[in-house]
Amino acid sequence: MNDLFDQIKEHGQGHVLQYFAELSSAEQTLFLDQLKTIDLPQLEELYAHHKKPPKTGGQNFQPVLSVRKSALAPAELSKAVQAGEDLLRQGKVGLVLVAGGQGTRLGFPGPKGCFELLPGKTLFQLFADQVAQLNQRYGITIPWYIMTSDATDQETRDYFVREKYLGLPKGSVHFFLQDMLPSLDLNGKLILDAKGHLASNPNGHGGTLLALRNSGALIKIQQACIEQLFYFQVDNVLTKIADPLFLGLHTLASADMSTKIVRKVDPEERVGVVGYVNDVLGVIEYSELPSAQASQKNADGSLVFNAANTAIHILRTDFVGKLTAKNFQLPYHVAVKKIPCLAPLGNLLQPAQPNGLKFETFIFDALAQAKNSVTLEVERNEEFAPVKNATGPDSPESARALLKKTPS
Ligand code: UD1
Repeated sequence: MNDLFDQIKEHGQGHVLQYFAELSSAEQTLFLDQLKTIDLPQLEELYAHHKKPPKTGGQNFQPVLSVRKSALAPAELSKAVQAGEDLLRQGKVGLVLVAGGQGTRLGFPGPKGCFELLPGKTLFQLFADQVAQLNQRYGITIPWYIMTSDATDQETRDYFVREKYLGLPKGSVHFFLQDMLPSLDLNGKLILDAKGHLASNPNGHGGTLLALRNSGALIKIQQACIEQLFYFQVDNVLTKIADPLFLGLHTLASADMSTKIVRKVDPEERVGVVGYVNDVLGVIEYSELPSAQASQKNADGSLVFNAANTAIHILRTDFVGKLTAKNFQLPYHVAVKKIPCLAPLGNLLQPAQPNGLKFETFIFDALAQAKNSVTLEVERNEEFAPVKNATGPDSPESARALLKKTPS
């Protein structure tokens, strides 16, 4: 303990120990467990990088060439669907849902998946209904891996138990936990959100890859001969889970990682765009794309950078295995956020202004490592209805309206 405290003080973070003596022994143990997991040199490096980003010589963005579903010849379409359905029937597909995010924008107090979008139907239930249909249609029990974080884990597991695994076989639903990372204040200091707890955040959906390995899920997936992982987010209620067409195109192209996109029509829309950054495939976040490029148009009036990322991917199991075998690290992105913190009087303060930094990695940065990749464009109204905000665009209301229009 003394060594740990010395290290913390040497790194200029001794303030987090100021209440230690006041804690009960159980609280001290919990706090020590948290302190032991933090990597102080890494945090210092992340902070230094944020304060002084290395000079990159500018970023060159190029659009990606996508396959448009509506432009596929009937023979190509049925060949791909057939290939995808074969994979499903042979039990070679697993599902990975990322549900570890804090979902602050929606303003719902629990895990976002427990949000009741339709009467009696939460987001989790709507997904589970689709999974049940897949099981029935293909005569399989498709394994569903759900990533949680400290922010969502217990409530999510309790919900599934209470709701009897939403009608799915219990053994087909698996949870795995992503890592957390301490948040820093704007001066690079750790933040207490209780006398014996550091404010921390889930390490981003990029954390999925290592969490799959470290939780032991990847080994089980490999042992079950699951070749492809269909990856999706908890907020897009129109996700076509394990879409055979997407699976088929991805497999026929021997792709390592593929992405589904929808057409971006409004230059201001706050979605990432799949494209090349200095010739490397990835996602250009809306905040990074200069407005001149965001509104640049083709001769037919469409946006040049129009490949809106739905954050639906397929990853080859082998690719995940190879990537995470050793010394794997996706780049960190920083976000300046309002982080609840301990006030001098010992109460929790909800800051009015951004007061800290959250560091996260993003799954789409793994596209840079993919040897082959398919970018499939599908109809927005049929496959993209994210629930992000409490009201307005990308809200429960807009998602319900789209859901009503879409044939199931
Ligand atoms: C994301 C994508 C954006 C894309 C949009 C489509 C990023 C940075 N951007 O935006 O390119 O156009 O979705 O809807 O992701 N999650 C975790 N653990 C974490 C963080 C997030 O499991 O640590 C999960 C969330 O539970 C959610 C998903 O990842 O299922 C998306 O997270 P969110 O932060 O809401 O992404 P967006 O910024 O909306």
